[in-house]
Amino acid sequence: MHLVTGATGPVGRALVDALLADGAAVRAISRDPSAAGLPAGADVVEGDPRKPGTLALHGASTLFVHPRAVGEEAVDPLLAAAAEQGVRRVVVMSAINVEDEPAHQPSRFNGDRNKEVEDAVVRGPLPWVSVRPSSFALNALTMWAGQIRAGDVVRGPYASFAEAFVHEKDVAELIARALRDETLDGRHLPVTGPRSLTHAEAVTVIGEVLGRPLRHEEIPAEAAARAMVGPGGLPEPFVEALMARYARGEGRPAAVAGQPGGRTFAQWVADHAADFGGERGEGR
Ligand SMILES: NC(=O)c1ccc[n+]([C@@H]2O[C@H](COP(=O)([O-])OP(=O)(O)OC[C@H]3O[C@@H](n4cnc5c(N)ncnc54)[C@H](OP(=O)(O)O)[C@@H]3O)[C@@H](O)[C@H]2O)c1
Repeated sequence: MHLVTGATGPVGRALVDALLADGAAVRAISRDPSAAGLPAGADVVEGDPRKPGTLALHGASTLFVHPRAVGEEAVDPLLAAAAEQGVRRVVVMSAINVEDEPAHQPSRFNGDRNKEVEDAVVRGPLPWVSVRPSSFALNALTMWAGQIRAGDVVRGPYASFAEAFVHEKDVAELIARALRDETLDGRHLPVTGPRSLTHAEAVTVIGEVLGRPLRHEEIPAEAAARAMVGPGGLPEPFVEALMARYARGEGRPAAVAGQPGGRTFAQWVADHAADFGGERGEGR
Protein backbone atom coordinates (compact mmCIF):
# COMPACT_ATOMS: atom_id res chain seq x y z
CA MET A 1 0.00 0.00 0.00
CA HIS A 2 1.22 3.49 -0.93
CA LEU A 3 0.92 6.27 1.64
CA VAL A 4 0.44 9.68 -0.02
CA THR A 5 1.00 13.00 1.74
CA GLY A 6 -0.19 16.21 0.05
CA ALA A 7 -2.96 14.07 -1.46
CA THR A 8 -5.52 16.87 -1.83
CA GLY A 9 -3.28 19.20 -3.87
CA PRO A 10 -3.14 19.09 -7.68
CA VAL A 11 -0.16 16.72 -7.86
CA GLY A 12 -1.46 14.57 -4.99
CA ARG A 13 -4.90 14.17 -6.60
CA ALA A 14 -3.37 13.16 -9.92
CA LEU A 15 -1.06 10.77 -8.05
CA VAL A 16 -3.95 9.11 -6.22
CA ASP A 17 -5.75 8.73 -9.58
CA ALA A 18 -2.64 7.24 -11.25
CA LEU A 19 -2.05 4.75 -8.43
CA LEU A 20 -5.71 3.66 -8.35
CA ALA A 21 -5.69 3.28 -12.14
CA ASP A 22 -2.75 0.88 -11.66
CA GLY A 23 -4.87 -1.15 -9.24
CA ALA A 24 -2.71 -0.17 -6.26
CA ALA A 25 -3.95 0.37 -2.70
CA VAL A 26 -3.68 4.00 -1.57
CA ARG A 27 -3.86 5.64 1.84
CA ALA A 28 -4.30 9.37 1.26
CA ILE A 29 -3.49 11.77 4.09
CA SER A 30 -5.46 14.96 4.65
CA ARG A 31 -5.88 17.26 7.64
CA ASP A 32 -9.59 17.34 6.75
CA PRO A 33 -10.81 14.13 5.09
CA SER A 34 -14.41 15.42 5.00
CA ALA A 35 -13.32 18.12 2.53
CA ALA A 36 -10.81 15.97 0.61
CA GLY A 37 -13.08 15.01 -2.32
CA LEU A 38 -10.82 12.10 -3.29
CA PRO A 39 -12.03 9.02 -5.22
CA ALA A 40 -13.87 6.34 -3.28
CA GLY A 41 -11.11 3.82 -4.06
CA ALA A 42 -8.65 5.68 -1.84
CA ASP A 43 -8.54 5.18 1.93
CA VAL A 44 -8.60 8.82 3.05
CA VAL A 45 -7.18 9.15 6.54
CA GLU A 46 -6.92 12.16 8.81
CA GLY A 47 -3.41 13.28 9.65
CA ASP A 48 -1.07 16.26 9.58
CA PRO A 49 2.21 15.46 7.82
CA ARG A 50 3.88 18.21 9.87
CA LYS A 51 3.05 16.14 12.98
CA PRO A 52 4.34 12.68 12.01
CA GLY A 53 2.81 11.14 15.15
CA THR A 54 -0.64 11.79 13.64
CA LEU A 55 0.04 9.69 10.52
CA ALA A 56 -1.18 6.08 10.20
CA LEU A 57 1.99 4.52 8.74
CA HIS A 58 1.28 0.85 9.57
CA GLY A 59 0.91 -1.43 6.57
CA ALA A 60 2.43 1.04 4.09
CA SER A 61 5.23 -0.28 1.87
CA THR A 62 6.03 3.05 0.20
CA LEU A 63 5.71 6.70 1.19
CA PHE A 64 5.28 9.79 -0.98
CA VAL A 65 6.75 12.86 0.71
CA HIS A 66 5.07 16.05 -0.50
CA PRO A 67 7.53 18.84 0.34
CA ARG A 68 4.99 21.52 1.27
CA ALA A 69 2.75 19.19 3.27
CA VAL A 70 5.64 17.64 5.24
CA GLY A 71 7.99 20.62 5.52
CA GLU A 72 11.54 20.83 6.81
CA GLU A 73 10.95 20.20 10.53
CA ALA A 74 8.87 17.04 10.21
CA VAL A 75 10.73 15.20 7.48
CA ASP A 76 13.41 13.50 9.63
CA PRO A 77 10.99 12.23 12.30
CA LEU A 78 8.55 11.14 9.58
CA LEU A 79 11.24 9.07 7.81
CA ALA A 80 12.39 7.52 11.09
CA ALA A 81 8.81 6.57 12.01
CA ALA A 82 8.17 5.21 8.50
CA ALA A 83 11.28 3.00 8.61
CA GLU A 84 10.30 1.74 12.07
CA GLN A 85 6.77 0.90 10.86
CA GLY A 86 8.07 -1.16 7.93
CA VAL A 87 7.90 1.32 5.04
CA ARG A 88 10.51 0.13 2.53
CA ARG A 89 10.95 2.98 0.01
CA VAL A 90 10.26 6.70 -0.26
CA VAL A 91 9.64 9.06 -3.19
CA VAL A 92 10.01 12.79 -2.65
CA MET A 93 8.95 15.66 -4.92
CA SER A 94 11.17 18.75 -5.07
CA ALA A 95 11.72 21.07 -8.05
CA ILE A 96 13.96 21.32 -11.10
CA ASN A 97 15.60 24.49 -9.75
CA VAL A 98 16.39 22.95 -6.37
CA GLU A 99 20.17 23.15 -6.88
CA ASP A 100 20.02 26.86 -7.79
CA GLU A 101 21.10 29.53 -5.35
CA PRO A 102 18.38 29.78 -2.68
CA ALA A 103 17.81 33.46 -3.51
CA HIS A 104 17.01 32.42 -7.09
CA GLN A 105 14.20 30.05 -6.07
CA PRO A 106 10.96 32.10 -5.78
CA SER A 107 9.15 29.28 -3.96
CA ARG A 108 11.45 29.73 -0.97
CA PHE A 109 9.90 33.17 -0.46
CA ASN A 110 6.53 31.40 -0.10
CA GLY A 111 7.99 29.23 2.63
CA ASP A 112 8.67 26.07 0.58
CA ARG A 113 11.80 24.15 1.56
CA ASN A 114 12.13 21.72 -1.35
CA LYS A 115 15.93 21.46 -1.00
CA GLU A 116 15.92 20.71 2.72
CA VAL A 117 13.12 18.13 2.41
CA GLU A 118 14.80 16.42 -0.55
CA ASP A 119 18.20 16.40 1.22
CA ALA A 120 16.63 14.83 4.31
CA VAL A 121 15.12 12.06 2.18
CA VAL A 122 18.45 11.47 0.40
CA ARG A 123 20.41 11.12 3.64
CA GLY A 124 17.54 9.32 5.42
CA PRO A 125 17.10 5.66 6.35
CA LEU A 126 15.13 4.46 3.29
CA PRO A 127 15.90 3.86 -0.40
CA TRP A 128 14.66 6.95 -2.24
CA VAL A 129 13.76 8.52 -5.57
CA SER A 130 13.39 12.27 -6.09
CA VAL A 131 11.11 13.77 -8.75
CA ARG A 132 11.98 17.32 -9.79
CA PRO A 133 9.26 19.08 -11.82
CA SER A 134 9.71 22.23 -13.88
CA SER A 135 7.14 25.05 -13.51
CA PHE A 136 3.64 23.66 -13.20
CA ALA A 137 1.31 24.55 -16.08
CA LEU A 138 -1.11 25.33 -13.25
CA ASN A 139 0.84 28.56 -12.73
CA ALA A 140 -0.89 29.79 -15.91
CA LEU A 141 -4.15 29.83 -13.95
CA THR A 142 -2.68 32.02 -11.21
CA MET A 143 -1.04 34.30 -13.75
CA TRP A 144 -3.72 34.66 -16.40
CA ALA A 145 -7.10 33.03 -15.69
CA GLY A 146 -8.66 36.13 -14.12
CA GLN A 147 -7.71 38.34 -17.08
CA ILE A 148 -8.80 35.68 -19.61
CA ARG A 149 -12.23 35.37 -18.00
CA ALA A 150 -12.54 39.17 -18.29
CA GLY A 151 -11.33 39.77 -21.85
CA ASP A 152 -9.01 38.88 -24.71
CA VAL A 153 -5.89 40.80 -23.67
CA VAL A 154 -3.52 39.40 -21.06
CA ARG A 155 -1.22 42.03 -19.65
CA GLY A 156 1.95 40.72 -18.04
CA PRO A 157 5.71 41.18 -17.80
CA TYR A 158 8.46 39.50 -19.83
CA ALA A 159 6.46 38.31 -22.87
CA SER A 160 9.51 36.49 -24.26
CA PHE A 161 10.37 34.57 -21.08
CA ALA A 162 10.14 30.87 -21.97
CA GLU A 163 9.63 27.75 -19.95
CA ALA A 164 8.50 24.15 -20.40
CA PHE A 165 5.35 24.09 -18.28
CA VAL A 166 4.63 20.57 -17.04
CA HIS A 167 1.18 18.97 -16.67
CA GLU A 168 0.49 17.83 -13.11
CA LYS A 169 -0.55 14.44 -14.51
CA ASP A 170 2.94 13.92 -15.97
CA VAL A 171 4.50 14.76 -12.59
CA ALA A 172 2.10 12.40 -10.83
CA GLU A 173 2.62 9.55 -13.28
CA LEU A 174 6.39 9.77 -12.82
CA ILE A 175 5.94 9.72 -9.03
CA ALA A 176 3.64 6.69 -9.39
CA ARG A 177 6.25 4.92 -11.51
CA ALA A 178 8.97 5.76 -8.98
CA LEU A 179 6.81 4.36 -6.17
CA ARG A 180 6.62 0.95 -7.85
CA ASP A 181 10.01 0.74 -9.65
CA GLU A 182 12.93 0.14 -7.33
CA THR A 183 15.40 0.20 -10.22
CA LEU A 184 14.99 4.00 -9.99
CA ASP A 185 16.30 4.10 -6.41
CA GLY A 186 18.94 6.75 -5.73
CA ARG A 187 18.00 8.85 -8.76
CA HIS A 188 16.90 12.46 -9.20
CA LEU A 189 14.34 12.50 -12.03
CA PRO A 190 13.61 15.86 -13.68
CA VAL A 191 10.24 16.17 -15.40
CA THR A 192 9.31 19.00 -17.78
CA GLY A 193 6.78 19.74 -20.47
CA PRO A 194 7.72 18.62 -23.99
CA ARG A 195 8.50 22.11 -25.33
CA SER A 196 9.43 25.55 -24.03
CA LEU A 197 6.90 28.29 -24.73
CA THR A 198 7.26 32.02 -24.20
CA HIS A 199 4.59 33.72 -22.11
CA ALA A 200 3.23 35.26 -25.33
CA GLU A 201 3.12 31.86 -27.07
CA ALA A 202 1.47 30.23 -24.07
CA VAL A 203 -1.32 32.83 -24.10
CA THR A 204 -1.79 32.24 -27.85
CA VAL A 205 -2.10 28.47 -27.22
CA ILE A 206 -4.73 29.09 -24.54
CA GLY A 207 -6.67 31.19 -27.06
CA GLU A 208 -6.39 28.49 -29.73
CA VAL A 209 -7.73 25.81 -27.40
CA LEU A 210 -10.55 28.02 -26.07
CA GLY A 211 -11.35 29.32 -29.58
CA ARG A 212 -10.66 32.94 -28.60
CA PRO A 213 -8.33 35.60 -30.07
CA LEU A 214 -6.22 35.99 -26.95
CA ARG A 215 -3.02 38.01 -27.05
CA HIS A 216 -0.31 38.86 -24.56
CA GLU A 217 0.55 42.51 -24.09
CA GLU A 218 3.80 43.18 -22.28
CA ILE A 219 3.75 45.66 -19.42
CA PRO A 220 6.74 46.87 -17.36
CA ALA A 221 7.85 44.56 -14.57
CA GLU A 222 7.24 47.22 -11.91
CA ALA A 223 3.60 47.66 -12.94
CA ALA A 224 3.06 43.89 -13.06
CA ALA A 225 4.64 43.46 -9.64
CA ARG A 226 2.43 46.17 -8.14
CA ALA A 227 -0.67 44.43 -9.50
CA MET A 228 0.44 41.02 -8.19
CA VAL A 229 1.21 42.32 -4.70
CA GLY A 230 -2.01 44.36 -4.40
CA PRO A 231 -4.78 43.63 -1.87
CA GLY A 232 -5.28 39.89 -1.40
CA GLY A 233 -2.34 39.26 -3.73
CA LEU A 234 0.99 37.47 -3.50
CA PRO A 235 3.72 38.18 -0.90
CA GLU A 236 6.05 40.97 -2.04
CA PRO A 237 9.35 39.04 -1.53
CA PHE A 238 7.96 36.18 -3.66
CA VAL A 239 6.94 38.58 -6.45
CA GLU A 240 10.36 40.27 -6.33
CA ALA A 241 12.10 36.89 -6.64
CA LEU A 242 9.80 35.92 -9.53
CA MET A 243 10.51 39.14 -11.43
CA ALA A 244 14.24 38.69 -10.84
CA ARG A 245 13.98 35.16 -12.27
CA TYR A 246 12.21 36.47 -15.37
CA ALA A 247 14.83 39.22 -15.71
CA ARG A 248 17.63 36.62 -15.59
CA GLY A 249 15.81 34.69 -18.33
CA GLU A 250 16.15 31.39 -16.50
CA GLY A 251 13.24 29.46 -17.95
CA ARG A 252 14.00 25.77 -18.17
CA PRO A 253 14.49 24.34 -21.65
CA ALA A 254 12.44 21.30 -22.55
CA ALA A 255 12.76 18.45 -22.34
CA VAL A 256 14.20 15.52 -20.56
CA ALA A 257 14.87 12.61 -22.89
CA GLY A 258 12.98 9.44 -22.16
CA GLN A 259 10.59 10.91 -19.62
CA PRO A 260 7.05 9.56 -19.59
CA GLY A 261 3.97 11.59 -20.39
CA GLY A 262 5.02 14.56 -22.41
CA ARG A 263 1.55 16.12 -22.41
CA THR A 264 1.58 19.40 -24.32
CA PHE A 265 0.56 22.74 -22.88
CA ALA A 266 -2.44 22.65 -25.25
CA GLN A 267 -3.56 19.36 -23.66
CA TRP A 268 -3.21 20.92 -20.24
CA VAL A 269 -5.33 23.92 -21.31
CA ALA A 270 -8.01 21.57 -22.67
CA ASP A 271 -8.05 19.73 -19.32
CA HIS A 272 -8.52 23.08 -17.52
CA ALA A 273 -10.70 24.93 -20.04
CA ALA A 274 -13.46 25.39 -17.48
CA ASP A 275 -11.01 27.19 -15.16
CA PHE A 276 -10.44 29.78 -17.91
CA GLY A 277 -14.18 30.16 -18.46
CA GLY A 278 -14.26 27.92 -21.54
CA GLU A 279 -15.78 24.57 -22.44
CA ARG A 280 -13.96 21.46 -21.23
CA GLY A 281 -12.20 20.02 -24.26
CA GLU A 282 -10.51 16.83 -25.35
CA GLY A 283 -7.03 18.33 -25.87
CA ARG A 284 -5.04 18.33 -29.07
N1 LIG B 1 4.26 25.72 -8.77
C1 LIG B 1 5.31 25.25 -9.43
O1 LIG B 1 5.60 25.64 -10.57
C2 LIG B 1 6.18 24.19 -8.79
C3 LIG B 1 7.16 23.56 -9.56
C4 LIG B 1 7.96 22.58 -8.96
C5 LIG B 1 7.78 22.27 -7.62
N2 LIG B 1 6.81 22.92 -6.89
C6 LIG B 1 6.66 22.58 -5.46
O2 LIG B 1 5.46 21.79 -5.32
C7 LIG B 1 4.93 22.02 -4.01
C8 LIG B 1 3.50 22.48 -4.14
O3 LIG B 1 2.73 21.40 -4.64
P1 LIG B 1 1.13 21.47 -4.63
O4 LIG B 1 0.70 22.63 -5.47
O5 LIG B 1 0.64 20.10 -4.96
O6 LIG B 1 0.86 21.79 -3.08
P2 LIG B 1 -0.46 22.27 -2.31
O7 LIG B 1 -1.64 22.03 -3.16
O8 LIG B 1 -0.23 23.65 -1.77
O9 LIG B 1 -0.48 21.30 -1.05
C9 LIG B 1 -0.85 19.94 -1.16
C10 LIG B 1 -1.59 19.52 0.09
O10 LIG B 1 -0.68 19.49 1.19
C11 LIG B 1 -1.36 19.85 2.39
N3 LIG B 1 -0.67 20.99 2.99
C12 LIG B 1 -0.37 22.17 2.37
N4 LIG B 1 0.24 23.01 3.24
C13 LIG B 1 0.34 22.33 4.41
C14 LIG B 1 0.87 22.67 5.69
N5 LIG B 1 1.42 23.86 5.93
N6 LIG B 1 0.81 21.75 6.66
C15 LIG B 1 0.26 20.52 6.43
N7 LIG B 1 -0.28 20.16 5.26
C16 LIG B 1 -0.24 21.05 4.25
C17 LIG B 1 -2.80 20.20 2.01
O11 LIG B 1 -3.61 19.05 2.25
P3 LIG B 1 -4.78 18.99 3.39
O12 LIG B 1 -5.29 20.39 3.57
O13 LIG B 1 -5.77 18.04 2.78
O14 LIG B 1 -4.12 18.44 4.61
C18 LIG B 1 -2.68 20.47 0.52
O15 LIG B 1 -3.87 20.20 -0.21
C19 LIG B 1 5.81 23.09 -3.35
O16 LIG B 1 6.79 22.48 -2.53
C20 LIG B 1 6.42 23.79 -4.56
O17 LIG B 1 7.63 24.46 -4.27
C21 LIG B 1 6.00 23.86 -7.45
